[in-house]
Amino acid sequence: MPQLAGQVVIVTGASAGIGEETARRLVRGGAKVVITARRPDRLEALARELDATGAHVLAVEGDITSDTDRRKLVAAALAKFGRIDGLVNNAGYGTRGPVEIVPVDLIRKNYETNIFSLIALTQLVVPAMRERGSGCIVNIGSVAGKIARPLSSIYDSTKHALEALTDGLRGELKPFGVRVTLIRPGFIATEFIEAANAVSADVIANAGPYAPFYKNYHAGTKSLRLVAGVPDDIARLVEKALVSDNPAPRYSGPFHAKIFLLLKWLLPDRMLAWVVRLKP
Ligand SMILES: NC(=O)c1ccc[n+]([C@@H]2O[C@H](COP(=O)([O-])OP(=O)(O)OC[C@H]3O[C@@H](n4cnc5c(N)ncnc54)[C@H](OP(=O)(O)O)[C@@H]3O)[C@@H](O)[C@H]2O)c1
Repeated sequence: MPQLAGQVVIVTGASAGIGEETARRLVRGGAKVVITARRPDRLEALARELDATGAHVLAVEGDITSDTDRRKLVAAALAKFGRIDGLVNNAGYGTRGPVEIVPVDLIRKNYETNIFSLIALTQLVVPAMRERGSGCIVNIGSVAGKIARPLSSIYDSTKHALEALTDGLRGELKPFGVRVTLIRPGFIATEFIEAANAVSADVIANAGPYAPFYKNYHAGTKSLRLVAGVPDDIARLVEKALVSDNPAPRYSGPFHAKIFLLLKWLLPDRMLAWVVRLKP
C-alpha cells in the first residue's frame, strides 16, 4: 500500500475550496505538496500556514490554461522534490446559462480550463510516472458529469467529458502501474457558485426568454446549500485514492452525491428529471 508520507503531489486549483483543503490534508499526512493557482497571495498564505520552513510545500503561481505556466509548474516541482508521485487535477469552474445564448468563446474557455489544460498537464506528468512504474492521477469530476442540469449544460458537459477521459486513461496507464481515478463531488460549500456567477454575469443579465428560469435556479442553489458538504469531504477521498494500491475507478461524496448517483442508476431519464427536479 503506498504511504502518503513522502509522496510528492501536485494539487491544481489550491487557492480555494477543495484544492486548498486537499493540500492541507495531504501535508498533514506527510506528503510534499506543490500547490498552484492564479492568485499568488492566497497560495503564499496557504504555503506559510502549512509549512513555514518551506521544506514540504511549494507554491507555484500559474494559469492552468497557459502552456508556459504548466511547464514551469512541472519543472519547479521536479527541481524542488525530484519526482512527482501524484497529480490532483482539481482546477476548474462552471459557466452558467442556456446553450442557446452562451457565447462560444466562453464555452471554449470552460473546456480549455476543465478539459484541455487538464489533459496537457497530465501529458507532462505521465511520462516519468510510466517509466518509474508508479504514480496516481486523481481527476476531480462532478455528480453533474452524470446528471446534467438545465442552465448548466456547458460546465456539466466538461465534467461528462472528464468521465470518459478518466476511464480511457485508466486503462492506458494500468499496464504501466500508474493509477487513475475520478472523484465526483456533490454540492460542496466553496467559492464555486460565486466564481460561476462572475464568469456568467453577462449571460445571466441578458438571458432574454430564459430570464424567468433563473428565479428557480437560484432557489435550487439555495436548497442545495442546506445539504452542502465541506471541502474536506472530497480531500478525504483524494487521500484515500493516493494511498490505495488499486483505487476505485470512481469515488463520490458527500452522502447526497451517492443518493443522486444511485437515482441516476435506478431511474429512467424522465423519472429522474422529475424526482430531482431537473427543470429550469
Ligand atoms: N463546489 C462544488 O460543489 C463542486 C461540485 C462538483 C465538482 N466541483 C469541482 O471541484 C473543483 C474545485 O472547485 P471548488 O468547488 O473548490 O471551487 P473554487 O472554490 O472556486 O476553487 C476553484 C479553484 O480552481 C482554480 N482555478 C480556476 N481556474 C483556473 C485557472 N485558469 N488556472 C489555475 N487555477 C484555476 C482557482 O484558483 P485561482 O482563481 O486562484 O486561479 C481555485 O483555486 C472544480 O474542478 C469543480 O468543478 C466542485
